[in-house]
Amino acid sequence: MLARLVFAITDATLRTRLAELAEGPDTVVSELASEAWLQQIGRIDCDLVVVDTTALLIPAEDVIEALRQTASSPELLVVSSSVDAIGRAELLAAGCLAVISDELLDEPFREVLETLIQRRREAVQLQREADEATDTFGGFLSKSASMGKFLQIARKVSRSSSTALILGETGVGKEQLARAIHSQSPRASAPFIVLNCGAVPEALLETELFGHERGAFTGAVRSHRGHFELAHRGTIFLDEIGEMPVHLQVKLLRVIQERAIQRIGGEDTLLIDVRILAATNRDLAEEIREKRFRSDLYYRLSVVTLEIPPLRERKDDIKMLVDTYFQQFKTQMPTSAESISDAAMKTLCAYDWPGNIRELINVVERAVLLCDGEEIVPEDLPAVVSEATVPEAPAAVTRQFDDALQGLDDSWLQRPLAESRLAWNTAHERAYLQGLLQETQGRISETAKRSGIDPRSLYAKMKLHGLRKEEFR
Ligand SMILES: Nc1ncnc2c1ncn2[C@@H]1O[C@H](COP(=O)(O)OP(=O)(O)OP(=O)(O)O)[C@@H](O)[C@H]1O
Ligand SMILES: [Mg+2]
Repeated sequence: MLARLVFAITDATLRTRLAELAEGPDTVVSELASEAWLQQIGRIDCDLVVVDTTALLIPAEDVIEALRQTASSPELLVVSSSVDAIGRAELLAAGCLAVISDELLDEPFREVLETLIQRRREAVQLQREADEATDTFGGFLSKSASMGKFLQIARKVSRSSSTALILGETGVGKEQLARAIHSQSPRASAPFIVLNCGAVPEALLETELFGHERGAFTGAVRSHRGHFELAHRGTIFLDEIGEMPVHLQVKLLRVIQERAIQRIGGEDTLLIDVRILAATNRDLAEEIREKRFRSDLYYRLSVVTLEIPPLRERKDDIKMLVDTYFQQFKTQMPTSAESISDAAMKTLCAYDWPGNIRELINVVERAVLLCDGEEIVPEDLPAVVSEATVPEAPAAVTRQFDDALQGLDDSWLQRPLAESRLAWNTAHERAYLQGLLQETQGRISETAKRSGIDPRSLYAKMKLHGLRKEEFR
C-alpha cells in the first residue's frame, strides 16, 4: 500500500532530511513551493501534506478545511521548531494528524508514516467489505440480480494486474468500471491515468502515449512524459482503443509484451509497471475483419473481457440509479423537489435508455431543475421518455380483446353496475382464456398452471365460453 506525501517545506535542510526519512517502497513524495502549495494541492492525489510552520499561511483550521474539500482529502502533519505545548494542542485540536519537532524528527515521523499506511489499508479493506455487502463495486453501482455474476468477475479482476478489455454501449459505464477496478486494486494509491485515443489528434497520440525527449521533433522544446510514464505503478485506461491508428497499435503491442517504453527521440528504455485497461464501444471483431484493428493486439488486450450490459437489460437498476442521482442533484442545485412521484418513476423505469446511464443522469438533472412542486411528475421528463411509456399490447392480443368485447351488447351502460361488470368480466375471461390457450397451444395442464385455475374449473370455464382445446393445436 502506497502512502502519497506532499512536502511544502520552506527550509531546504529540513526538506532534504524529511525526503531521506520518507524514502521507501511504500511512499511517493512530491514537493510544492511553500508559498503556493494551498492553491495547487487540489490537483494532486495525496494522503499526507507535510508543512513547516512558515508554510502554514492561514490558520490551521482553515488549511484543514481546505484540504477536506479536495478530492483525496489528505491529512496534515506540521513539523516545527518553535511550537510550544499550547500551540501544539491548538494544532491538534484543529485536526492536524500530528505535530512533531524538527529536533526530534526521525522516530515520530516514521510512526506517523506507519499510522498513515495502516489507516489506508484499513480504509481500502472497509470500503471493499462495504461494497461486497451492498452490491456496489468501487462506485460502480448495481443492484440487479443479473449483474451479480458480472460484479463478482470484476472484483476478481480488480485484485489482479491482468489487462482487461471493457466493452459496452455508449454511456453504459465503461470508464466508471475502469475507475472502480483501479480503486479496488492493490494499485489504488498510485495514479489512474486516462487517455482517450479518439480525442487526441493522431499526430499527438504517440507523444501522449510514450512521451518525447527535448528536440525529438520541431517544436519539442522541452521533454515530455507520456501517459505510460505517468501511470507508473498505477493503471492506464486507454479509452476508445478502437480509434487507435494501426501503426500505433504495433507499438502498443510491443509495450504490452516488453513492459518497457522509449520516449520519442530517446535512447533509454524505461521499464514500466502499469496495469492496462482498454475500452471501446466499437465491434472489434468487425474492425479486425476490416483490417482496422490488429488481432494480435486484440488478444493481448482481451485477457479478460468485461462486457457491461445496457441498462434496458437490467431494468431493476433504474430505480436505484434514479434515486441515487436524484439525491445528489437535490443537494447540488436549488430546487423545490423533495421526491419523485410514482407515475414519474414508473415512466422512467419503462423507458429503454438508449444513452444508458449518462442519459439517465441528464434526465434526472433536468427534472430536478424543471420541477415546480415538491414532487417530480411525468411532465418534468423530456417527451422522448414520457411518450415512450407503457408498451402497447401485441396486436394479436388487442384483436382478441376487440373480438371478445364485440360479444357485449351496447346496453352495458344502461344496466346497473353489478350487471354491467359481470358482462365485462365474462367477456374478459373469455378473451384471457382464448389468448392463453393460443400461447400454450391448447395444453390444459400448462394453461391451468399459468392461469392459477385448477384443470377441472378450467374445463368448466372453457365449456361455458365454447372454447375447445383442439382449436388451438
Ligand atoms: N454503475 C454505475 N453507477 C453509477 N454511476 C454510473 C454507473 N455507470 C455509469 N455511471 C455514470 O454514468 C455516466 C457515464 O458513464 P461512463 O462515462 O463511464 O460511460 P462510458 O461507457 O465510458 O460512455 P462512452 O461510451 O460514451 O464513453 C458517468 O457520469 C458515470 O459516472
Ligand atoms: Mg467513456
